[in-house]
Amino acid sequence: MASLSAQIPPCLALMMAACLMIGINGSIDGAQREFDYFALSLQWPGTICHKTRHCCSSNACCRGSNSPTEFTIHGLWPDYNDGTWPSCCYRSQFDVKEISTLLDALEKYWPSLYCGKSSTCFSGKGLFWAHEWEKHGTCSSPVIRDEYSYFITTLNVYFKYNVTKILNEAGYVPSNSERYPLGGIVSAIENSFRATPEVICSKEAVEEIRLCFFKDFKPRNCLASKTSCPKYVSLPAYVSMGREASESEMA
Ligand SMILES: *[C@@H]1O[C@H](CO)[C@@H](O)[C@H](O)[C@H]1NC(C)=O
Repeated sequence: MASLSAQIPPCLALMMAACLMIGINGSIDGAQREFDYFALSLQWPGTICHKTRHCCSSNACCRGSNSPTEFTIHGLWPDYNDGTWPSCCYRSQFDVKEISTLLDALEKYWPSLYCGKSSTCFSGKGLFWAHEWEKHGTCSSPVIRDEYSYFITTLNVYFKYNVTKILNEAGYVPSNSERYPLGGIVSAIENSFRATPEVICSKEAVEEIRLCFFKDFKPRNCLASKTSCPKYVSLPAYVSMGREASESEMA
């Protein structure tokens, strides 16, 4: 971060476009144009928690029987139609006090699934929520204009479309032995959500599903991109490693 602020003064001497080209995105108010659509990015704990090697209190994978078994929120991301996205659009340091009334819901539905701290735009490192608000949330204006609105809006959209339920009802249940056709998973979501999601895999395992929205939160197709998934994918069941791992670490 020290190096970032050191780069700003010479950058200001250049044209705005040149500043963007050398990658100081978002450090200058108004430098990034308004976004085109939202993606609600959901993470599958069954896949991410399999990779957990160390446990810590901030990692929801380590909550033993209270660990998440549904898709949880990664973030609500403003995106451009060309496949790029704005980030860190203005200085707004995350303040947990602004969302104190939402913390129970956020711990449950928007937990961190990692131990490490997350990078923030201007202040170094912080909570996962700080990363999402500073990097993505600040770019969602004029639809969302403050931190509280970012989190309550995201929770509300998440509650409206229960992807875990959509998949379960179509027969795609968590399993450590089954493989499911990717096309079947996509169709199940299309049938309910009425738009095409994006599916992200880690090897053959589903790691994220993204739902896309117009600025008024009506569903729209995500960009047709090269998927990171093979034709047949898995939806791993959560394997509790947290309690045992932390107990053996303490022992
Ligand atoms: C999603 O649906 C499942 C049932 O399939 C339910 O257990 C869960 O509470 C629902 N999640 C949310 C966030 O409503």
